[in-house]
Amino acid sequence: MQNNWRPYFTHDTTLVINFGGQYAHLIARRVRELKVYSEIIHYADFSEETLREIKPKAIILSGSPLSPPDIDPSKLKVVLRGEIPVLGICYGHQLLAYMLGGTIAKGPGEYGKTLVKIVKRNALFENWNQEEVVWMSHRDQVKSLPEALEILAVSVNNVIAAFKVKNKPIYGVQFHPEVSHTPKGLLLLKNFLYTIAKCKASWNPQQVIEKLVSEIKAKVGSKEKVLCAVSGGVDSTVTAALVQRAIGDRLVAVFVDHGLLREGEVEITLNLLKRLKVNYIFVNAKERFLFRLKGVKDPEEKRKIIGEEFAKIFKEIVERDSSIKWLAQGTIYPDVIESGKVKHSARIKSHHNVAGLPKWFNLKLIEPLKYFYKDEVRQIAKALDLPDSLIKKHPFPGPGLAVRIIGEVNEKKLEIVRKASKIVEEELKKNGIYDKVWQAFAVVGEDKWVGVKGDKRAEGYIVTIRIVESIDGMTADYAKLPYSILEKIASRIYNEIDDVTMVTYAITPKPPSTIEPC
Ligand code: XMP
Repeated sequence: MQNNWRPYFTHDTTLVINFGGQYAHLIARRVRELKVYSEIIHYADFSEETLREIKPKAIILSGSPLSPPDIDPSKLKVVLRGEIPVLGICYGHQLLAYMLGGTIAKGPGEYGKTLVKIVKRNALFENWNQEEVVWMSHRDQVKSLPEALEILAVSVNNVIAAFKVKNKPIYGVQFHPEVSHTPKGLLLLKNFLYTIAKCKASWNPQQVIEKLVSEIKAKVGSKEKVLCAVSGGVDSTVTAALVQRAIGDRLVAVFVDHGLLREGEVEITLNLLKRLKVNYIFVNAKERFLFRLKGVKDPEEKRKIIGEEFAKIFKEIVERDSSIKWLAQGTIYPDVIESGKVKHSARIKSHHNVAGLPKWFNLKLIEPLKYFYKDEVRQIAKALDLPDSLIKKHPFPGPGLAVRIIGEVNEKKLEIVRKASKIVEEELKKNGIYDKVWQAFAVVGEDKWVGVKGDKRAEGYIVTIRIVESIDGMTADYAKLPYSILEKIASRIYNEIDDVTMVTYAITPKPPSTIEPC
């Protein structure tokens, strides 16, 4: 679709050039937190044309698992002109130095918190002390710099930690200002964006609502209808609310109960749709989903089946109403990335909302939230006056409990996961923790654990509790909850659910684990 409205049309934009580092999204998020709009582009897709199109006010080069000589950097020459301020982070720092004639060598490496000393004051380090702690993660290092570059900071290990091109606003920092372990990192980014690149702090996702609505209006026109699959989560509800604002009752919201929803979710979602006065269709499709999932153990196969069934249901609805020409989806930025839709990012899971639409599905697609991160969608939801209970609801995957049941989905395991998840949520809400974590749920697998219940041997299921903190779902860490709360959750689960003999707590971060088990 040509000429779509994009936030960079109206907002100062920072372009993050991604060389495959795990932190590119964190950089983009941090920039947006500072109220400057950011977009990520993979280096392979970058060209001078990108700059002409996006007209960034600032450019950030991300980290990478590569070494500078591993790529052909010729496309980057254009950013060395110095017309647009540039900040290279980690690999980006090394690459800039390398392209400008510096030497790079493998060193012993610096990992974790490291002290750096500022040797030349510069606006980049405004309000930094002479010595500060930063987060490092590198083996390659800049060994020497040519005349035209000056060293701004060195690490306690005497490694060049920051430099500037003398007569241009081009900077490199070996450390990671985007991670919270660099206490003054956000301040450095702020100095770069506001003082050096003169970006206006104007990004506020709430202000783009009218743009999104008028874009939907313009695309759909005055006759056609839009089908929007709603799940009861914040992304699809916001999408439906935006479409409703644009075209009123020509929105056909479809809520499918695939039998894989959490306890009480059907009623809550139906009440919400009624309250929003959205034109909706409710489809009870429990039986057909569970029938097709019988005996299926492979997680990607489960996702594929669920995606197919959804598509079939939508097709049946569309066949009954020929004026439905569009499909609106609540795809958000991380969904696009995680499904490998953005080229060169490895496909981790086929999140079905973006990967499952078969070719025969003939609807045109509207994805108004595809440039937004989750917390930005929540801000939009607030501006649309959607209820707090929805805004604060944890993300829930489209394939529902099927991705929280390892192996075959059956009634028994569904019952266990439902009851256990409810207990987790209840205990967290009671202790004021629910709103502070990204997701909290129970998982059940195939393995059994021998237990004793009522003095008898009992072979029961193992329930794993997963409670994670995250900024955007791209990386995550387990929540370090007090033992008393974990104990309460565990004891309620093994006491209240008959077939459970063991409860465990998942303490692996993402990466290497993903948030959901499959
Ligand atoms: P993972 O498990 O990949 O999850 O670390 C990252 C975030 O995405 C959600 N998720 C999904 N959402 N369809 C979705 O709509 C899916 O298939 C899916 N798989 C995971 C997950 O809940 C987490 O917030």
